[in-house]
Amino acid sequence: MKKAAVIGLGDISSIHLGAIAANDQIQLCAVCDIDPSARERAPQEVPFYTDYKEMIRKEQPDCVHICLPHYLHYPVAKDAVEMGVNVFCEKPVALNQAQAAEYVQLEKDHPELQIGICLQNRLNETTEALKELIDSGNYGKVTGIRGTVPWARPKEYYDVKPWRGKWKTAGGGCMINQSVHTLDLLYYLAGPIRRLKASVSQVLDYGIEVEDTVTASLEFENGARGLFYATNANFKNESVQLAVDLEKASFRMRDNILYRVEEDGSEVVLVEDRRMPGSKFYYGASHEKLIRKFYNSLESGSGDYIHVADAEMSIRLIDAIQNSGRFGIWTEV
Ligand SMILES: NC(=O)c1ccc[n+]([C@@H]2O[C@H](COP(=O)([O-])OP(=O)(O)OC[C@H]3O[C@@H](n4cnc5c(N)ncnc54)[C@H](O)[C@@H]3O)[C@@H](O)[C@H]2O)c1
Repeated sequence: MKKAAVIGLGDISSIHLGAIAANDQIQLCAVCDIDPSARERAPQEVPFYTDYKEMIRKEQPDCVHICLPHYLHYPVAKDAVEMGVNVFCEKPVALNQAQAAEYVQLEKDHPELQIGICLQNRLNETTEALKELIDSGNYGKVTGIRGTVPWARPKEYYDVKPWRGKWKTAGGGCMINQSVHTLDLLYYLAGPIRRLKASVSQVLDYGIEVEDTVTASLEFENGARGLFYATNANFKNESVQLAVDLEKASFRMRDNILYRVEEDGSEVVLVEDRRMPGSKFYYGASHEKLIRKFYNSLESGSGDYIHVADAEMSIRLIDAIQNSGRFGIWTEV
């Protein structure tokens, strides 16, 4: 049995608290939020703290879950690790490439501890099946991949939590906050990206600092071509879509279903994800699965989870897209 504590009791924390409650290997020992009013929405059966260092000192958790604004992920993880505690950290792994590199170094410097990053969509049943099909080699090389994230965020999303609209606290907009999962899947599935050219823009009139819409053309090291499109300016949250062409087959993923495209253009259902009930279906249903995997690794030392070093590429890619958008040039990744 491992003792867990959750730091940050905002929107995503209920998913972590639910996954902890559903897992009989984990016992919630404390929660923390800098805002004292969060005590009311926190589980009442465990102590509530406003200072995470005091919580760690007094409660001695085996693992802390970091559910904080982006700019706090690395500094809080560093404090926790230096206090001898394992970390399960929400995405994005860091604010930018320089900070991601420091986080990778922290992971290397502390092999006695485990740090998991919550890029849970790698564990969706559709993603797992598609990865297996690609890696089997039965269909030849990947020749093209497209990821599309047509989402919507109202102005209030930024007004109620102003950190989300600012460079300093969020590190970017629709890419680092919403579509980082899809960016992660592009190289996870199709291999390393060599260079890209992007347009990064704001098409909404929200008065925020960060981008709401991005298009990027991608060139992969194996010669494949790719396209990435993400926006928070759609009229509603629609399904993420992935299209993957290989030399001998084409696959499509949308509405949490993986299809194989037949020669006549018809589509055959291969796999369907477990669905998350409720309005935030777009988070996906794999948080619980990833948290279970992480705690299995805490018990067994298997190392089978998403490490800081696995997630670093998502930030490198985001920085490259931001740079390309700023200067309008092809940018090496
Ligand atoms: N994996 C996913 O699919 C997914 C989905 C949604 C959000 N997220 C991520 O979860 C993280 C949190 O997002 P959110 O939407 O829940 O944010 P939020 O603003 O709703 O919640 C953050 C909470 O942290 C608290 N906080 C801030 N500074 C603190 C400190 N120093 N000590 C303790 N508490 C502090 C705030 O008071 C707030 O309650 C972000 O990294 C976000 O990208 C991930």
